Amino acid sequence: MFNLPSEYDIEIELDDLNKLTDAVLTKYGYDFGNYAMSSFKRRIIMVLKKHGIKTVELLIQKILHDSQFFEQFILDITVNTTELFRDPSFFRYLREKIIPVLNTRPEFNIWHAACSSGEEVISMSILLHEEGLLSRAKVYATDINHAVLKRAAEARYPLRNLELFKQNYELTMPKGKLEDYYIVKDNEIYFDPALVSHVKFKHHDLAVDHHFFKFDFIFCRNVLIYFNQDLQNRVFELLHNSLFLGGFLALGAKESMVWCRISDKFEVVNEIEKVYKKIKL
Ligand SMILES: C[S@@+](CC[C@H](N)C(=O)[O-])C[C@H]1O[C@@H](n2cnc3c(N)ncnc32)[C@H](O)[C@@H]1O
Repeated sequence: MFNLPSEYDIEIELDDLNKLTDAVLTKYGYDFGNYAMSSFKRRIIMVLKKHGIKTVELLIQKILHDSQFFEQFILDITVNTTELFRDPSFFRYLREKIIPVLNTRPEFNIWHAACSSGEEVISMSILLHEEGLLSRAKVYATDINHAVLKRAAEARYPLRNLELFKQNYELTMPKGKLEDYYIVKDNEIYFDPALVSHVKFKHHDLAVDHHFFKFDFIFCRNVLIYFNQDLQNRVFELLHNSLFLGGFLALGAKESMVWCRISDKFEVVNEIEKVYKKIKL
């Protein structure tokens, strides 16, 4: 048995992708030129199919002339999947090993880079609350995508996610019950606004924007996998510039910085949980 080509089989040349990324950069200032090419190409094909657009040239025209469509395009080509306490062993590690270090500081700054719809932010807020440190934290949460930032600030999620959220939380050696932090209304979970009221949600593009503050802890999880090595190196420089000496950086389970250009400026604190510490300016 072999697959017959259908009207939806779409081939895209590298040249087309370059024209698309150039057009987006020129018109909107977003630079997708250094995203990992194979996954970026798959997402573009998905966008073409979803909107019934037959060629990249037509997609470019639509993007250039319809800024609302462009917002949807950003949402479509970025992967926004996230969870409360994603990788519970990581959050347990934070609770046991990193939060005690933060506890030695009178106040501290945290950046959730590429925070998506904010479940990671709420997870950290719950940990800090349970360890009695929430009032000492100054927190920024950023993403390239305005739509997910809005959802993050609302701290509101579909009820169907609740079981997974509870299971993850239970694996972090919790000091409370997840029910203490949310109410359910109209098929949605509403987290306590106090978990995000101290957080500044801002637009920030890791591919083009610069550092804007200094942090004691930066989460940059599950976004670098979508970037090529050049862009990952750029982001590591940016994150390094954004950390105080002795500050921590956390990456996603499939990411690492041991290979990067400035790896000698970091110490590997835990390569399984992907936690690194800035040891050189
Ligand atoms: C898979 S989510 C990761 C969410 C969360 N950090 C986690 O680990 O669960 C990836 C996020 O990266 C964001 N993103 C993609 N490219 C970005 C860029 N250039 N700058 C900032 N955020 C970006 C996407 O919008 C998406 O919300």
